Amino acid sequence: MKEINVKPAEGRLGVLVVGCGAVATTFITGVLMARKGLAKPIGSMTQYDKIRVGHGVDKQYLHYKDIVSMADLRDLVFGTWDVYPQNAYQAAVYAEVLKAKDIEPVRDELMAIKPMKAAFDKNYAKRLDGDNVKDCKTRWDMVEALRADIRDFKEREQCDRVVVIWAASTEIFVPYDAAYHKTLDQLQAAMKADDREHIAPSMCYAYAALEERCPFIMGAPNTTVDIPAMWELAEKTHMPIAGKDFKTGQTLVKSGFAPIIKTRNLGLAGWFSTNILGNRDGLVLDEPANFHTKEVSKLSTLETICKPEEQPDLYGNIYHKVRINYYPPRNDDKEGWDNIDIFGWMGYPMQIKINFLCRDSILAAPLLLDLVLLSDVAVRAGRYGIQRFLSFFLKSPMHDFTQGEEAVNNLFEQYTMLKNAIREMGGYEPDEEID
Ligand SMILES: NC(=O)c1ccc[n+]([C@@H]2O[C@H](COP(=O)([O-])OP(=O)(O)OC[C@H]3O[C@@H](n4cnc5c(N)ncnc54)[C@H](O)[C@@H]3O)[C@@H](O)[C@H]2O)c1
Repeated sequence: MKEINVKPAEGRLGVLVVGCGAVATTFITGVLMARKGLAKPIGSMTQYDKIRVGHGVDKQYLHYKDIVSMADLRDLVFGTWDVYPQNAYQAAVYAEVLKAKDIEPVRDELMAIKPMKAAFDKNYAKRLDGDNVKDCKTRWDMVEALRADIRDFKEREQCDRVVVIWAASTEIFVPYDAAYHKTLDQLQAAMKADDREHIAPSMCYAYAALEERCPFIMGAPNTTVDIPAMWELAEKTHMPIAGKDFKTGQTLVKSGFAPIIKTRNLGLAGWFSTNILGNRDGLVLDEPANFHTKEVSKLSTLETICKPEEQPDLYGNIYHKVRINYYPPRNDDKEGWDNIDIFGWMGYPMQIKINFLCRDSILAAPLLLDLVLLSDVAVRAGRYGIQRFLSFFLKSPMHDFTQGEEAVNNLFEQYTMLKNAIREMGGYEPDEEID
């Protein structure tokens, strides 16, 4: 074993969630219930998974917390920002994800979580009309106000460390523009010049978090930290960043199923993915400019798994389509259909159909817990910049596209990266041995 350099997880860990909607309240309620012993954090890697460390007679299977020092659920303290003023209890009831029996036992704790005023610009999410919004003249004012919020929260709640995670609505698509997003100087200048076209509100949250020495995680498909200027800020402040877009239902299935086709050297002609969902996320995504952000994120998966340039006969002509349809009666109970057209020996076609009746926020909540706890481990291990080992949890993992780096989307490769990072931080050798 090598020397372990992860500082112990002492004291309280503040978790500031941007957005107090379905995902955020399902996550927070679940943690509060779990630490009372009233619910189980199912689906969370940090709470359930065991990793093999060592080989041969020294081989052991350990929980993550027994390999690296990790914050205990009892040490988490929650805060949030939202465009709507409802507290976390009201927001959880409104979201209709959880039953009353799973909310009422932690009602008082949830009621105490009142969203701070949001840094918001209606042009970025036209379907939202809440008024719990900061009165800021410029984007730079937003950064300053958010920094003050983080400092106040940390002091008020007596936190030793804080992680900021975005679980707010998907913004309209802001494409990477080298004239504004390449260097930190450019980004800062655009914020000070109040350039509302190139600076999304989410960038102000990320900027504020990093300057306050908090890791930042982007759970929506927004480009926010997926730009070189933010990588520079993360390096400068020695803070981890991760994103983007929680990998919950359909893309989880895709990143786990596409490797079957690829490993078996079957051909892939087309993959049509469609969804219906009726929560507020679905309402925001019903706006074409917001859906485009999601579409770009969801489409990135297949190419990097199948690698068409290496196998043009099998993957040279894949037709990949993703649709999301807003359908209120289903609320958070999303239904996804995948039609996969494959071909085999001598090109004969076959079809696979997958119908996933899932619960969006139930799948997302454990990802927030894992991303928060593992980002906090990363800080204490001295890791900063893009955290590729967290790709496992994300639909469109960050990578240095300026250097032609490809994202890893294959779920099983991502799992190896996750396990190896934890082994390394715990002082063990990384390896790819099959268990
Ligand atoms: N549930 C899933 O499976 C899943 C998977 C991947 C990504 N996501 C993403 O997670 C996010 C949250 O999803 P949800 O179902 O909780 O949505 P939601 O609409 O219930 O909650 C989002 C909240 O964010 C608030 N908000 C919007 N802009 C804000 C801003 N600038 N500052 C502060 N608050 C702001 C909204 O008022 C809303 O209450 C969405 O972007 C969604 O695309 C969800």
